[in-house]
Amino acid sequence: MIDLREAQSIAVLTGAGISAESGIPTFRGPGGLWRNFRPEELATPEAFARDPQLVWEWYLWRRRLIAAAEPNAGHRALVELERRTPRFTLITQNVDGLHDLAGSQRILKIHGDIWHSRCSACSYQRRDRSTEEMPPPCPECGAMLRPGVVWFGESLPRIVWDEAERAVSQADVLLVAGTSATVYPAAGLLHLARYVIEVNQEETPFSDRVAVSLRGSCGEVLPRL
Ligand code: OAD
Repeated sequence: MIDLREAQSIAVLTGAGISAESGIPTFRGPGGLWRNFRPEELATPEAFARDPQLVWEWYLWRRRLIAAAEPNAGHRALVELERRTPRFTLITQNVDGLHDLAGSQRILKIHGDIWHSRCSACSYQRRDRSTEEMPPPCPECGAMLRPGVVWFGESLPRIVWDEAERAVSQADVLLVAGTSATVYPAAGLLHLARYVIEVNQEETPFSDRVAVSLRGSCGEVLPRL
């Protein structure tokens, strides 16, 4: 069994479960459905093309929840782990920014950032803290702005993804916390790792294939690790 205190290089992959104790519903857990839509029905370019207002309303709802949220003990434990580890990379599927707020330094946001908006037609993008209103048209080309996140069917940001793959394949340990590990390519990172420790309240498709599977909440288990 690997002792995390001895590890020179640690990669971490987090998902919505680490923010659940901050009051942000996960995608596939209780409270995750918004107006009975599954994320796969709204987080797609096709859904945005069909009904941008609806998709924006969902993101504005999530932004309001996130704006009221604080990082929890799970986020803070990862800040401490980074401080103690010579080579550390935090890869997150979360777009909520709570790892930044907790104080994590090296963060790879493979699914983007909910506090960004970008143009659906040109390369314009900006920080966007609006929680009530849909953004105005793109100031550069007049097309519609969209949330700066990655949707189903879209590629992940290339440079960020390459770095994530490199970090995982070079790490002594991959710690996977609070993700259902069902959405690819993110879940594929588990195949690149030498040694995986999973922290989750429930079983996942990987639980019986990882080196260590710890059942419990991130807020409880990560500080103990
Ligand atoms: P999911 O909602 O699929 O999974 C959340 C996981 O966290 C589940 O396995 C829960 O058992 C676990 N969980 C819940 N509360 C927990 C807690 N307090 N401590 C530990 N574990 C807990 O969320 P993700 O795996 O993040 O993508 O979903 C992956 C992607 O699907 C998201 O990034 C998003 C979504 O659609 C895009 O929007 C592209």
